[in-house]
Amino acid sequence: MNYRIVFLAFCTFALGCMALTTSAIAGDGANILSERCASCHDLTGPAPTTLEKIWQRKAPDLFYAGDKYEQAWVEAWLQNPKRIRPAGMFYMDHIKPGEKRDMVDDSTLTDHIKLSKADASAVAEALAAKQPMNSLIDAEKHDPAVSPGPLGEMMFDKFFGCMACHQIEPGYGGLSGPEVYTAGSRLKPEYMLSYIRNPQAWDPKIWMPNKHVPDVSIQKMVNYMVDLSKEDWNAKQ
Ligand code: HEC
Ligand code: HEC
Repeated sequence: MNYRIVFLAFCTFALGCMALTTSAIAGDGANILSERCASCHDLTGPAPTTLEKIWQRKAPDLFYAGDKYEQAWVEAWLQNPKRIRPAGMFYMDHIKPGEKRDMVDDSTLTDHIKLSKADASAVAEALAAKQPMNSLIDAEKHDPAVSPGPLGEMMFDKFFGCMACHQIEPGYGGLSGPEVYTAGSRLKPEYMLSYIRNPQAWDPKIWMPNKHVPDVSIQKMVNYMVDLSKEDWNAKQ
């Protein structure tokens, strides 16, 4: 028997197997997304262009996830998801009249699907590659040196009326938008800047108004949200 030929054949076989497993791992995230996530999340775009479609949307659009989220946050959240929109995707479907003001009807909200560490990591990587809107991100420059001071919070709560829709602490603030006290760890700062500057550039029919906020005020409010996210909200609840 020619051992050299047998050895070479074995090596070719082993290399082939290695190539197969690596490509299977790389493709995993995309497969999980299409098989387990696409029934609720839009992974291809474009964003809804009618109010009817926006009200029927089941989950946040993920087709520009790489422009929007911090990859490490996505990986961690998918293993231990916690509610971000206090009254779900469309608040009108999940509120009931309370004594003084509307309250969230928790019985109508469901828990998010949980992933293993390996799956969450593969999905987070596949999502990070989705960056069709990166020209909007590249147009922004975040300045971490702009101190929010007390003005950052005043602007958010009062001057621009942002708190009417966003919670700045668990249970404190409006119900129709995502909580912002975790936004700083969830979102890229450039995404926050761009979204506040012009929400409709991202999502043409979204009900967040464009308040034409001057750049320095946007920077202050973003840094206010970044600071909020550094607090340990789990310990306080
Ligand atoms: C039954 C519908 C449904 C399915 C299936 C689903 N999601 Fe979600 N997902 C939601 C909803 C609703 C939210 C908003 C949660 C909130 O605001 O508290 C959400 C939020 C998210 C977020 C956070 C984004 C943000 O801006 O709030 C990520 C990331 C995410 N989902 C990824 C996934 C992945 C990955 C899968 C598949 C493994 C998946 N989802 C399957 C409904 C779904
Ligand atoms: C009328 C309600 C409303 C007002 C007022 C409002 N927002 Fe929003 N905001 C929203 C909605 C709705 C979204 C996106 C919803 C989604 O992704 O499900 C949003 C998204 C955001 C996001 C991205 C959050 C995320 O997790 O995706 C930031 C940051 C934000 N708003 C900041 C502000 C600031 C700053 C102001 C004041 C200048 C403001 N908002 C005023 C409703 C509002």
